[in-house]
Amino acid sequence: MTFTDGLAPLSIEPTCRIEFGPGRVDRLPGLVASTGHTRAFVVTDRGLRAAGVVERVLKLLDADGIEYAVYDEVAPNPSTGNVDAGAARARAFGPSAVVALGGGSVLDAAKGIALLVGNPDAVAADADSLWEAADGLPLVAIPTTAGTGAETNGFGVIEDTAACRKVYIGHPSVKPRVALLDPELTVGLPAPATAATGIDALVHGIESLASRGANPVSVAYATQAVTMVSGALPAAYRDGSDLDVRAALMMGAHLAGQALTLSGLGLVHGIGHALTAHTGTPHGVALAAVLEEVMEFSAPAARDAYEQAARAMRLAPPADGDWARAAVEGVREISGAVDVKRPLRDLGADRAMLRSIAAGAVADAVTKNAPRLPSESDVLEILRRTH
Ligand SMILES: NC(=O)c1ccc[n+]([C@@H]2O[C@H](COP(=O)([O-])OP(=O)(O)OC[C@H]3O[C@@H](n4cnc5c(N)ncnc54)[C@H](O)[C@@H]3O)[C@@H](O)[C@H]2O)c1
Repeated sequence: MTFTDGLAPLSIEPTCRIEFGPGRVDRLPGLVASTGHTRAFVVTDRGLRAAGVVERVLKLLDADGIEYAVYDEVAPNPSTGNVDAGAARARAFGPSAVVALGGGSVLDAAKGIALLVGNPDAVAADADSLWEAADGLPLVAIPTTAGTGAETNGFGVIEDTAACRKVYIGHPSVKPRVALLDPELTVGLPAPATAATGIDALVHGIESLASRGANPVSVAYATQAVTMVSGALPAAYRDGSDLDVRAALMMGAHLAGQALTLSGLGLVHGIGHALTAHTGTPHGVALAAVLEEVMEFSAPAARDAYEQAARAMRLAPPADGDWARAAVEGVREISGAVDVKRPLRDLGADRAMLRSIAAGAVADAVTKNAPRLPSESDVLEILRRTH
């Protein structure tokens, strides 16, 4: 979007209620009650058990006498089978609020689980038709990574292992009622995961600015997101115990989620999804592998957006006036500072796989919002450069 365009009419639904701040997780019992339920089905994963985060939250529910069941078997990049297994447990537990406690994998799986409980005959592989289905259970989202922004929307990105592709499972009813953003819960996130999830948030801000779906509201969110994430991510990577930078990173990631939910994303995510489906690479690492190269490819169609991103990153004005190049260099510096970029060959993508990854990237729904629409051979060229 350029800033001299006439304004198109807009209709924007407010997203969820936000509860933000260190220690805010203490409000969980009241927030469960605000959904109209007295019981909670907690969706989480083993890593959060090991980190002690699950125990902290269950103690809060115990203290308030809220009956709960826990499904802690969500895998990174959850599969349709993973969601079906969680839904079977939730159906057996019965009516409740769903509490999604974890990173994007848990939040996405929890949305699928909540939706399947409202649709007893459905399975996760029915994702395409579930958009028109009956309502799911209400959801309270507690993100424990500062990355995906998945608490801002009603869809999950789930892997259909049989088809070797990502599918989108969702419904307006499973958009979280509340985003409970407590930076204390992210203090134990190891540095490599801080880097990967933080780069995801940075990409959300940048792709949102450059998206064909950008509008003045998404640009406002994305600009502030890029400022907060670019400022806080290297510091959080260096010292994860600094609660101030953890808080800034968490708010920045949330704002980036608000932005992407309004605007859509682009080719970095198209390639990232396909790369993860083929190799199992963690989401943020897959994005980092191609970020600068996709920006260079997109720059001719995204000059204004990249200038906005560069200024949001507080970069010095470039001597040659080329703000797009400055934005790419700014991103390269952050990615280097958090040591997250790897060649594709180190991520398990052999040369024979590249054509299939390129085809998957072009077919992915997110790619349609890219400022410069790529052909398969364009993507293949980007993949070869980063191999
Ligand atoms: N719905 C959306 O809008 C959206 C947007 C972007 C990405 N996604 C999806 O999100 C998923 C990636 O999520 P992610 O990057 O947050 O990673 P993740 O949820 O897969 O978590 C990665 C690892 O970090 C651990 N972890 C999480 N929080 C922790 C903490 N506080 N302390 C210690 N360990 C912790 C987890 O146990 C897990 O092992 C992908 O499946 C991606 O497709 C969804």
